[in-house]
Amino acid sequence: MMQRDWYKTAVFYQIWVRSFADGNGDGIGDLYGVYKKLPYIKSLGVNAIWFSPLYPSPNADFGYDISDYCDIHPDYGTLDQFKKVLDRAHEMGIRVVMDLVINHTSDEHKWFKESCKGKDNEYSDYYIWRDKPNNWNSIFEGKAWEYNEERGQYYLHIFAKKQPDLNMDNPKVREEVKKIMRFWLDMGVDGFREDVITFISKKEGLPDGLPFLPIVNGMPYYKDGPHIIEYLKEFREVSDEYGAVQIGEGPMTTVRSALKYLTGPEKTLDLMFSFDHMLADCFYTEYLHRKFDLVKLKRAFSKWQRALNNDGWNTLYLENHDHPRIISRYGSERHWKASGKMLAACYMFQKGTPFIYQGQEIGMTNIRLRDIAHYVDVSSIMNFNLFNTDDPINKRMARIHISSRDSSRTPMQWNGTKYAGFSRVKPWFYVNRNYKTVNVKAEEEDHGSILNFYRKCTELKSSSKTLIYGSYREFFPKNRHIYTYERKWDNISYLVICSFSSHGRHWNIPDEYVGRIGKLALCNYPMPVSTAISQKPRDLLRPYEVRVYRYKLK
Ligand code: GLC
Ligand code: CA
Repeated sequence: MMQRDWYKTAVFYQIWVRSFADGNGDGIGDLYGVYKKLPYIKSLGVNAIWFSPLYPSPNADFGYDISDYCDIHPDYGTLDQFKKVLDRAHEMGIRVVMDLVINHTSDEHKWFKESCKGKDNEYSDYYIWRDKPNNWNSIFEGKAWEYNEERGQYYLHIFAKKQPDLNMDNPKVREEVKKIMRFWLDMGVDGFREDVITFISKKEGLPDGLPFLPIVNGMPYYKDGPHIIEYLKEFREVSDEYGAVQIGEGPMTTVRSALKYLTGPEKTLDLMFSFDHMLADCFYTEYLHRKFDLVKLKRAFSKWQRALNNDGWNTLYLENHDHPRIISRYGSERHWKASGKMLAACYMFQKGTPFIYQGQEIGMTNIRLRDIAHYVDVSSIMNFNLFNTDDPINKRMARIHISSRDSSRTPMQWNGTKYAGFSRVKPWFYVNRNYKTVNVKAEEEDHGSILNFYRKCTELKSSSKTLIYGSYREFFPKNRHIYTYERKWDNISYLVICSFSSHGRHWNIPDEYVGRIGKLALCNYPMPVSTAISQKPRDLLRPYEVRVYRYKLK
C-alpha cells in the first residue's frame, strides 16, 4: 500500500467549479478557468483541491445528480482539459480529490433509464423499487418515493426526485462504483470526498419512520445502515491499491459512529465531515435559524477535538457549497474584516485538516435576492415552501437570506470590474453586490486583507508541528464571547484567543499562563508595540479580535 497519510499535513481548497472562474466566456465557471487560477490557489498555501462534481449532470442539484460518472460536464470542459488541470496541479505540488456521489444518480443516468423499463433487465435492481412506498420523507422534496409510470412502481429518493437512490445491496452496483473509482484513480487523482456516504446501506425491509418527524423521519433506517462498513471496506480496498484518501461526508453523524469509520482495524475512512459545529445558529438546517450561540459552537468543536485526539483525524471547515457564508453567520458583516480573520484562525489551528471553500478566503458574504423565484437551490426552495408558510413574505425571505445554499454559490469575486472579473459576459447566477470591495485584486493590494490573513494562517499551520500534531485543550468553555484554546507539542505551545463579540471584552489568561512570556504570532489588529504577552491576568480584546501566542516551554 502506498502512503496516504499526506492528508494530515494538507490544507484543502474546495472548488465548486460553476462559480469559480469562467475561462471560455460563456458565463459559467469551467476547467479552463481553474487552470488559469492554479497559481492563485497555490499562493494560498494550500496543497490539495477537492472538486465538487465536475461530471455531466442535468443540475437538478448542481452536479450532485450525475448522469455519467466517467466524463466531464461539457459546461466545464473535457476529460483532456481535466487531465491538464490534474497534471499541472501535481507539478505544482497540489493533490486532487474528486467528489464521489454514489448514494444516488441522476434520473437521467443510463442505469436509471434502463431500470425504468422493467423488472427483469440488467439494471432492474440497480435502484430501490417498491409497489407500496413507506412513509419516509425526502430531504429535498416532499415524500421520498416517486411513482414511475413506465415501470409501474415507486422508486426511493432520499434527496430530490431527480436523484434516485442506488441499491447498494446489489453487488453489481458496488462493482460499478469500484469501476468508477478506478477510472479516476488510473487517471491520477489522489482520492475521493464521498457524498452522504453514511446513507448508502438501507435497513432491510425499509421500515416506516416516526410519522411526526419532518424531512428526516427515515434517517434511523438509512444512516449508518447494516452493511455500511462491509461496503466501505470493498471501496477501501480499491483506494488502498492507489494510496488514495477517502473522505466521507456524514450528515448528522455522531462522534460514536464517526469513530467506527475512522479508527481501528476496520478503518474505512481517513476523514469525515461532521456537522455539529454548523448548528450553532440553527436547528437541523440553517433555515430554522436561531441566535448564534458561541458556547454551543465551542462545545461542538471541543467534543470532536477530544474524541478524535488519539485515534482518528478531524476535518476542519466553516464553509462549503452547502452552507451560507460564515461571516454572515458566526461573524459580523459590520465587522467584516476583523471577524473574517478571526473566524479563519478560530478553526484552522485546531487539530485536523483545514478546508477552505472558494471565496471564504476573501470574506465573501451572503446575497439577499428579493424574490424566492431568483433562487435556484432545490433545498432552499423546499425549506421556503415547507416551514412557517403562514409568516409574512418578508419574514420568509429573511430566512432564505440567512440560510440559502445559493449564498455560497455566487460567482467568485476576482476584481472590481463588471461581473467581478468572473466572466466577460453575464454569469449564470447573481454576483454579490459587494464585489467592488470584496474581491481578490483589492485584497492582494491590501497588506492587511482577509486574503493575506488566510495566507498567514496556512503558512503558520503548515510550518508548525505543534499546530498539526499537538494536543488540544479548551479554556473557559462557559465564556459566551471568547473562545480560548491551546495546542501543545513537545516544548512548544500555542494559545489561540478569539473574540466573537462586537464590543471590547476582557479576556482571562489561563492560570498556568499567567506570568509566562509568549510571542504574538498572529493578530487581526495592528500588532501591539510589545509582542510579549502582558503579565496582567486580564486583558482587553477588541471587537472580533484574535490573537495567537506562541510559548516556548523550558
Ligand atoms: C451532499 C452534498 C450536497 C447535495 C447532497 C445530495 O450533502 O454536499 O450538495 O445536495 O449531498 O447529493
Ligand atoms: Ca465557461
